[in-house]
Amino acid sequence: MSYRQKKSDIDRDRVLDFINSVYKNDEKYIDLREYAKENNIPIISESVRDLLFVVLEVKKPKTILELGTAIGYSSLLMSECTDSSITTVENYEERIIKAKENFIKYDKKNKIKLIEGDISEVLIDLEKENKKFDFVFLDAAKGQYIKWLPHIKNIMSDESLLFSDNIFHNNDVLESRYLIQKRDRTIHKNMREFIYSIVSDSEFMTKIINVGDGISISIKKNEK
Ligand SMILES: C[S@@+](CC[C@H](N)C(=O)[O-])C[C@H]1O[C@@H](n2cnc3c(N)ncnc32)[C@H](O)[C@@H]1O
Repeated sequence: MSYRQKKSDIDRDRVLDFINSVYKNDEKYIDLREYAKENNIPIISESVRDLLFVVLEVKKPKTILELGTAIGYSSLLMSECTDSSITTVENYEERIIKAKENFIKYDKKNKIKLIEGDISEVLIDLEKENKKFDFVFLDAAKGQYIKWLPHIKNIMSDESLLFSDNIFHNNDVLESRYLIQKRDRTIHKNMREFIYSIVSDSEFMTKIINVGDGISISIKKNEK
């Protein structure tokens, strides 16, 4: 095995352990990360967390929309690195309760607005209200991304950024559809369609980034 191959084979956990040791394991919301792990609640990976942090630090959006709150972990993280107002959407009752508890616990109730409802409906309401966001973090039902995309575009301000998580869908998206179990084929098809759409859309500049389970970052071009 070549040196290069050996390096690429290093266990990801070891890499993460190293990074965490460099950070001195001082993550503020580590209790939420542990709670999510113990209760099988999907939240952003540590590498996505770090990328999100850097992008927000550079972009400094004034308004953020998060689609998919879960227990509020990523909303809280985003509130740490920006002064923006954050709106986040969730429809799973148990998670809504937990997220609200967490926003109170960390004194972010005034900074983070939680909309309880289905993203499909909430997006239409936001469009009707002519709301605009400088940053959209898309992290919800993967099979719906393509359906939500036109609505998301309508509520993005010029030069707004769409940050989408889990676009490889556990690497299923990389496989031929014939290797995917029948029940997962719709998500596979929809996610591929989403990826092709954001990359080919002339109103976006999109890059796909091999971090976590696949990220895409799309910048909405200024129309002026
Ligand atoms: C991956 S989790 C979000 C994790 C969170 N962004 C974090 O990293 O801390 C996705 C969440 O989206 C929610 N969700 C999925 N589809 C939804 C929909 N149609 N409307 C509202 N919430 C939805 C799920 O209930 C789930 O809690």
